[in-house]
Amino acid sequence: MRLIHLDEVDSTQNYIKLHPEFGDGTAVLASSQTAGRGRLGRSFASPKNLGMYLSVVLPPNTQNITPIAAVAGRRALARVGVDCGIKWVNDLVVERGGAFRKLCGILAELSGGRLILGVGIDIGQRESDFPPELRSICTSVALEGGRTVTPREMAEIFLDELGRALALDEDALYDEYSARCVTIGRAVEVKRVPSDPGRTAVAVALTRDFAVEVAYPDGEREVVFSGEASLRLG
Ligand code: BTN
Repeated sequence: MRLIHLDEVDSTQNYIKLHPEFGDGTAVLASSQTAGRGRLGRSFASPKNLGMYLSVVLPPNTQNITPIAAVAGRRALARVGVDCGIKWVNDLVVERGGAFRKLCGILAELSGGRLILGVGIDIGQRESDFPPELRSICTSVALEGGRTVTPREMAEIFLDELGRALALDEDALYDEYSARCVTIGRAVEVKRVPSDPGRTAVAVALTRDFAVEVAYPDGEREVVFSGEASLRLG
């Protein structure tokens, strides 16, 4: 892999889109992003030197990239001393005080015949570094007692684990993802669109293609695919 380290950029995802010459395995790390993006049009706060803001170019036919990146991110965080779970489909979380706090988000985008995987990991934030509305739902390597690590070192560890996770066969990937998925067995709220009031259900199983089967109180069951609906842990 080739790692390009930038000081500041709007978004490492956008930077790769502006550089069609970057081929498979090229990774871009930024010390800060002025317009970091998350899934579903959300923004991703990217303060200078406090997190790992990384995008990687992968072949467009890579299957199951979000579960692969989640497994790689979980293993990378374990290497720096943070044991986290996977909140379906693309967040890594730590349970503290009965609530889940996010410290890693994953965004996979297809653009111009390339798959661009974006990963953000909160590393050095103290509680006051998060906006007040995020303080109870976000955390960082530092807040979880992980070892001191620079964003660059975190990126190197993540890329190492990404290489290993890409080599997993389907069964091994499914087993590791499902064993660490905190969503299964919990109450969730199923929302098809953001304005949807949401329907309470229980996430009962992870299907082989990484969708979640939910059961509603009236006994109805439904399979929810990523991108089709969001699940909020209830
Ligand atoms: C999410 O939580 O919904 C996904 C967050 C993805 C953030 C990363 S940071 C590096 C890359 N550049 C971006 O603008 N977004 C991704």
